[in-house]
Amino acid sequence: MARFTLPRDIYFGKGSLENLKNLKGTKAVICVGGGSMKRFGFLDRAKAYLEEAGMEVAIIEGIESDPSVETVMKGAQTMLEFGPDWIVAIGGGSPIDAAKAMWIKYEYPECTFEDMCKVFGIPELRRKAHFVAVSSTSGTATEVTAFSIITDYEKGIKYPIADFEITPDVAIVDPELAETMPKKLVAHTGMDAMTHAVEAYVSTANSDYTDPLAIHAIEMIMKDLVPSYNGDMEARDRMHNAQCLAGMAFSNALLGIVHSMAHKTGAAFADYGAHIIHGAANAMYLPKVIAFNAKDPVAKKRYGVIVDYMGLGGANDDEKVALLIKFLRDMNDQLNIPHCIGHYGADSYPTEQGFVPEKVFLERLPEIAKNAIGDACTGSNPRQPSQEEMEKLLKCCYYDTEVDF
Ligand SMILES: NC(=O)c1ccc[n+]([C@@H]2O[C@H](COP(=O)([O-])OP(=O)(O)OC[C@H]3O[C@@H](n4cnc5c(N)ncnc54)[C@H](O)[C@@H]3O)[C@@H](O)[C@H]2O)c1
Ligand SMILES: [Zn+2]
Repeated sequence: MARFTLPRDIYFGKGSLENLKNLKGTKAVICVGGGSMKRFGFLDRAKAYLEEAGMEVAIIEGIESDPSVETVMKGAQTMLEFGPDWIVAIGGGSPIDAAKAMWIKYEYPECTFEDMCKVFGIPELRRKAHFVAVSSTSGTATEVTAFSIITDYEKGIKYPIADFEITPDVAIVDPELAETMPKKLVAHTGMDAMTHAVEAYVSTANSDYTDPLAIHAIEMIMKDLVPSYNGDMEARDRMHNAQCLAGMAFSNALLGIVHSMAHKTGAAFADYGAHIIHGAANAMYLPKVIAFNAKDPVAKKRYGVIVDYMGLGGANDDEKVALLIKFLRDMNDQLNIPHCIGHYGADSYPTEQGFVPEKVFLERLPEIAKNAIGDACTGSNPRQPSQEEMEKLLKCCYYDTEVDF
């Protein structure tokens, strides 16, 4: 038995932000990030639409990238004081994810962060509020997913909250919001979407419902991501849909260890001055994990199907896997993303000496590997890595060496 859950309504296409006018309620809280939505006028527009719908509007601003537990708790307090019946989250994955977690705490004030992290353990929501997500990156697809990623900075670990309860009620996928993304954000969020689609397709929880979404997303992203990065706005608009399709797939088929490793390395070296940005981490680890997973015969076959849809050629599945790895590495080159942590600069660009010192990486490796194995995304990966294998895999991701185990 399986379940396939999506938002009740997905509005897409230019101008779809306007659908906020049609919400029925009395009070809405808008959750936004550090300033881009305000700067480009989307926050004012959203507020005006909600007021046109007859609602009183409050705003929670300044939600940081990779939001913290503290931000969630603080925002929930504001919600408790204001009492909204709609939560409208606008921006990239960070403000939308934070708003999802605030929503849980708003509905259940006694719920702790630990309680939230119990996979598929969230109590019934929507007793106080419904949720609209408007995405401005292309992207995490959190506007359609059952996930929220919150960082515990004391531990330097990202925790996924996973439950269909937090799948938004309404998603708005308006490409106008994505047109203002700077190039680097296009690259990182685009490779995040590519990783979602590939991991969903080979996940052990894949299904007839998720496969078409994942495959079509891969076909679109392979065509549109690099042109979008280079300023083609029609490709940018299509990418906004493609990432959403990938999200519809992975929210229901789950992910794999690329994400486990990205979650557990992302903030692990923050004391050395930078994060390994989620999408960049995925872009670097995905080719390595494909080589690792392809040792599983079912996964290998499924990678072969992906390559057939991509039209990359290859006489057999081994050749197809090699072609897929090469294609993704070439994409990283075209998007100015490094191939490994060792060459990942503090500004996320490729550099001779990355910001994570080798010695520090090796010291922290056993703990990171253990945490990655324990990540919620590991269970649906086609191969279950041992501690030793995960350490070896992470080393390949540090040194950019070949995965042959
Ligand atoms: N919930 C999920 O299913 C899911 C999936 C993947 C990743 N994530 C999480 O999402 C977070 C990353 O989200 P993200 O990659 O969307 O980035 P983000 O939300 O962290 O935003 C990054 C930066 O881009 C700016 N920005 C956003 N949209 C913009 C636009 N249209 N124009 C100009 N600037 C813009 C923001 O202000 C911010 O400074 C991570 O915490 C990651 O772990 C969640
Ligand atoms: Zn992701």
